Amino acid sequence: MNLAHTEEQLMMRDMVRTFAKKEIEPFIPNMEAGEFPRGILKKMGEIGLMGITVPEEYGGSNMDFVSYITAIHELSKVSAVVGVILSVHTSVGTNPIMYFGNEEQKNHYLPKMASGEYLGAFCLTESSSGSDAGSLKTRAVKSGDEYILNGSKMFITNGGEADVYIVFASTDPSKKTYGISAFIVDKNTPGLIIGKDERKMGLHGSRTVELIFDNMKVPAKNLLGEEGGGFKIAMANLDVGRIGIAAQALGIAEASLEAATGYAKQRVQFGKPISEQQGIGFKLADMATAVEAARLLVYRAAQLRSEGLPCGKEASMAKLFASKAAVDGSIEAVQVFGGYGYTEDYPVERYFRDAKVTEIYEGTSEIQRIVISKFLTRQ
Ligand code: CAA
Repeated sequence: MNLAHTEEQLMMRDMVRTFAKKEIEPFIPNMEAGEFPRGILKKMGEIGLMGITVPEEYGGSNMDFVSYITAIHELSKVSAVVGVILSVHTSVGTNPIMYFGNEEQKNHYLPKMASGEYLGAFCLTESSSGSDAGSLKTRAVKSGDEYILNGSKMFITNGGEADVYIVFASTDPSKKTYGISAFIVDKNTPGLIIGKDERKMGLHGSRTVELIFDNMKVPAKNLLGEEGGGFKIAMANLDVGRIGIAAQALGIAEASLEAATGYAKQRVQFGKPISEQQGIGFKLADMATAVEAARLLVYRAAQLRSEGLPCGKEASMAKLFASKAAVDGSIEAVQVFGGYGYTEDYPVERYFRDAKVTEIYEGTSEIQRIVISKFLTRQ
């Protein structure tokens, strides 16, 4: 498999790299203070980043999946917040409509999502169903030409900011996962209430909220796919979403390595740069090896996806490995910086706080192991 970027993909990488440095880096203090990067998302829409893989006929940039993953990777090297907002908007916000929507739904939503006018969110998790996503309790009951939804969702990334929510609810609890259906819900839908804003360890500036559905009335035409087909829609989009989160983690791991290496080369102790002290040099060597391995796994999964080949196992492997590389690498980066690393004067403490959730959301590392082992035993 050829994992080298094409000319077009390299142009995309350079464009995103320049954009991130110029437009996102100066805004990091605002995001750390909790400000959602609305203006940045608007500019990302203008340069085609909000609809990278959306076909041209629906107003998108019509680029391949590797280009999309390259964008998440590059954005996340500068800001994991902007990385996750784009990943959720695309992989699990826009893609369910792109792959499972009917023509009317695609024509209505995709151009606005691709331009960045509409932001997407994905609503699967509930207070009592996280890893066991199939046990969700939100109920949808058909009444005439609408569905009435009651229940609540937890930890919804982009929640409160999003214009379009992909909501999973049970239309027939007796059928368990086969009774789960997916709905496209507009932000102004009566009965949609934005609940508690989570105060998080990291990813400050990305919004994570609870959603409450109080007799929320969703037009029947907003059912996505078939009644009872929602769980498969969720799982299929998470397969792809997990490559996005793996790319976000790769970005954090690489940023940690670059910061630690740069510091270690100029910090002198005991008469020489600490990079030349074996204890620090070995840390950098391990970090660099993990980054390279993560890069190969992430881009292999992305290439499979680009070629339309199955990639569920590879996506989970990429997420499992890259998220660990991000957590371990950012912890080591703080250690290389010593006391300075523990202060907000350097970015490594932010990398550390942002990295941890990559082992949790879009399926914990334990869930990735379940997915991978199921593939092994099925083969
Ligand atoms: N693609 C398509 N269909 C799939 C699938 C996939 N990847 N995985 C499972 N299915 C299908 C199965 O084939 C099965 O149907 P059949 O019997 O017809 O074959 C059906 O779905 C049920 O499958 P399972 O019995 O395997 O389901 P399960 O209840 O045991 O759950 C699981 C499997 C992998 C553990 C799943 O529950 C899971 O992925 N859990 C983690 C949930 C998760 O990732 N949550 C993330 C929340 S979103 C988020 O974090 C976004 C954000 O804001 C950042």
